[in-house]
Amino acid sequence: MITSNELRRKYIDFFKSKGHAEISGKSLIPENDPTVLFTTAGMHPLVPYLLGEPHPAGKRLTDYQKCVRTGDIDEVGDPAHLTCFEMLGNWSLGDYFKKESIAFSYEFLISKDWLALDPRMISVTVFAGDENAPRDEDSAGFWKAVGMPEDRIAYLPASDNWWAAGPTGPCGPDTEIFFWVGGGLPPAGSNKGTDPGNWMEIWNNVFMQFNRVDEKTLVKLPAQNVDTGMGLERTTTILQGKTSVYQTEVFQPIIAAICASAGGYVYGADPEKDRSVRIVADHIRSSTFIIGDPKGVLPSNVGAGYVLRRLLRRAIRHGRKLGIEGSFLSGPATVVIDNFQLAYPELADNRAKILEALVAEENKFLETLKTGEHEFEKMLPNLLKNPQKIMSGRLAFKLYDTYGFPIELTEELAAESGMKVNREEFDEAFKKHQELSRAGADQLFKGGLADHSEVSTKYHTATHLLQEALTRVLGPHIAQKGSNITTERLRFDFSHTAPVTKEELEKVEALVNEQIARDLPVTMEIMKLEEAKASGARALFGEKYEENVKVYTMGDFSKEVCGGPHVERTGLLGKFRIQKEQSSAAGVRRIYAVLE
Ligand code: SER
Repeated sequence: MITSNELRRKYIDFFKSKGHAEISGKSLIPENDPTVLFTTAGMHPLVPYLLGEPHPAGKRLTDYQKCVRTGDIDEVGDPAHLTCFEMLGNWSLGDYFKKESIAFSYEFLISKDWLALDPRMISVTVFAGDENAPRDEDSAGFWKAVGMPEDRIAYLPASDNWWAAGPTGPCGPDTEIFFWVGGGLPPAGSNKGTDPGNWMEIWNNVFMQFNRVDEKTLVKLPAQNVDTGMGLERTTTILQGKTSVYQTEVFQPIIAAICASAGGYVYGADPEKDRSVRIVADHIRSSTFIIGDPKGVLPSNVGAGYVLRRLLRRAIRHGRKLGIEGSFLSGPATVVIDNFQLAYPELADNRAKILEALVAEENKFLETLKTGEHEFEKMLPNLLKNPQKIMSGRLAFKLYDTYGFPIELTEELAAESGMKVNREEFDEAFKKHQELSRAGADQLFKGGLADHSEVSTKYHTATHLLQEALTRVLGPHIAQKGSNITTERLRFDFSHTAPVTKEELEKVEALVNEQIARDLPVTMEIMKLEEAKASGARALFGEKYEENVKVYTMGDFSKEVCGGPHVERTGLLGKFRIQKEQSSAAGVRRIYAVLE
């Protein structure tokens, strides 16, 4: 049986044998991308390179990448959806195209030296064509050339076979690869088009030829790229002859730990409880990865921290459905750390931080639940006077808004006393609250991609100038703690214990504007990381870099390891103005600045 650790290794080794350089996966928290909270696909960190920036490791790349997608958080619990998954990826940046990509994928899947899957169990889809691009006869032809029977190729529309990471960014037609999960051998003529429920997608090869600039505009990319992503958990599932990711060795030990906490519950005994076990297993795995990331976040009420809190609270609620009263998440989290540290050593490095954060959040939430239940009991005598046995949505919302008490629990408590909650009224109040809430996290659940427009590129260059100016004015202790760019402004977090004075801010601003006035050339060089550091280039502490890195130099002023992109001369930036300086966290200050 091939384990997930073996699959990861085989994939990388295979593509290395085909001339690909192994690059390391990146943090789950994207730097400089205001449109998403998490890295949502294996290709996400590669967007600048798919758009045309040269990659320091070359034109053929491979890696494994942890990803988090919480758009369909409420579907998690079925056999195939996960909020945290790993993608195995290979890329061609203007090197090979459809023919080689298809041949590589098929060889890896069926060759006796690699995965040795039964070719009779595999089918594919290709793009049927529309106003953007023609029917992909090329891909279909290349599939037939490697031996794919005609009736295993389905031509599907853009909703299935056009891949884009977000509303803007690189995109193109794709060909997707499926494995039969319908039992026995697939009947003749069966493919994803005729029999969608019995084929599980395992790999997606995207032929990225366009950049979507806005809703109406597709621009041809400078090069024809290949971006493929194989789902590690799903492929492990079929390699192990299973039909659900939760039956594999990726999840079984986590499930065993949860069942042990639930008084020895036997997985498989009760479908409702099984679903809760799967939800806890998925959410605890995601949460452990999110907290244990090199740029890990902690539960909070905004942004990524808010998503984390939602995951943990949903896990705790489902734990209660399994009859678990107290704190229990550190058991399964320890299993996650132990089982994934081989591929993600940061989990072991952050073991104490992860476990502490989980216990703290559990205690906090259990307190919330207790208070909420108490408040509900106080309301009960009045509620019972209502002859229709309906609890108003307004009251349920008050429990949520004031005490953080989840609506599902209010509904449960109400049901225990023979009542129903007016859910419509609750949803309405909740929606209003969301519109008012400035957290903005919900918009970000679905994902999208950083915009690499001209304006954000300028802000990116300005950020380098700002960091250097801060260092020159305030001292060498300045280190970047976070950066976030939109088309409206830049935001920069840096280590510094005291507020920056007005005079200091004026000096920093003047120094940046001076570099803009000097119209310094911005140049890029590829070098070894050690060389870059030795040459005085700034690098982010704790960030994982490739062996070869890109170094951006702005005249004699700034030198930084960075993926880019940047403008060609600082003179293009316009006038730089600091809008605001404030505290961001203990020992971390935050600056907002604009280009005018
Ligand atoms: N970008 C594609 C996906 O995420 C392939 O890597 O499915």
